[in-house]
Amino acid sequence: MTQANFDLKEEIRDYWSRRSETFDLAFGHRIPRGPEFDAWQKPVRDHLGLEPLRILELACGTGEVTALLHDLGHDITALDFSEEMLAVARRKHAGRDRLRFILADAENPMEPDASFDAVVCRHLVWTLTDPAGAFVEWRRVLKPGGKLIVFDGDWAGLVADRRHRSGQWTRSEL
Ligand SMILES: C[S@@+](CC[C@H](N)C(=O)[O-])C[C@H]1O[C@@H](n2cnc3c(N)ncnc32)[C@H](O)[C@@H]1O
Repeated sequence: MTQANFDLKEEIRDYWSRRSETFDLAFGHRIPRGPEFDAWQKPVRDHLGLEPLRILELACGTGEVTALLHDLGHDITALDFSEEMLAVARRKHAGRDRLRFILADAENPMEPDASFDAVVCRHLVWTLTDPAGAFVEWRRVLKPGGKLIVFDGDWAGLVADRRHRSGQWTRSEL
């Protein structure tokens, strides 16, 4: 029997770590102040209201969603499993209060039971190795009646579709 010492999750983490310094340059990643920022804040306001809450932000990456949650006055614990992504986020938000960045796995956040009013993530679920287990964990850390906000898309499917249409993949690869 062979045992790998580098699994899929580590591969995924390395991928995001390599992209940390240029992540914000890609279309749709950075959320510039102005109409786009307001548009992202709206669903958060609509679902969470205006009172300051304790929020767990999963896979904060370079801290773009963190900025809009923080601006709404919430107290945020923002986690990511890539030290490189976290370093960019920490730099961006240096000196801000109500904000704690931690290195952790979103599938196993190791936060106490019922400790957050809301859990928020953007563009994480599609890249998880155990999404079902992750949802169980997120429910565990939410207070009763707490809310989970997930922004996501089928990004893997989109890439596959583009490659298929451009003829880069043969039928047997799909
Ligand atoms: C597409 S980026 C999104 C970053 C940020 N949420 C945003 O929308 O700008 C995916 C992020 O998820 C993080 N990530 C992926 N799987 C994770 C896991 N199991 N635990 C913690 N972070 C994870 C990566 O390190 C990366 O920062």
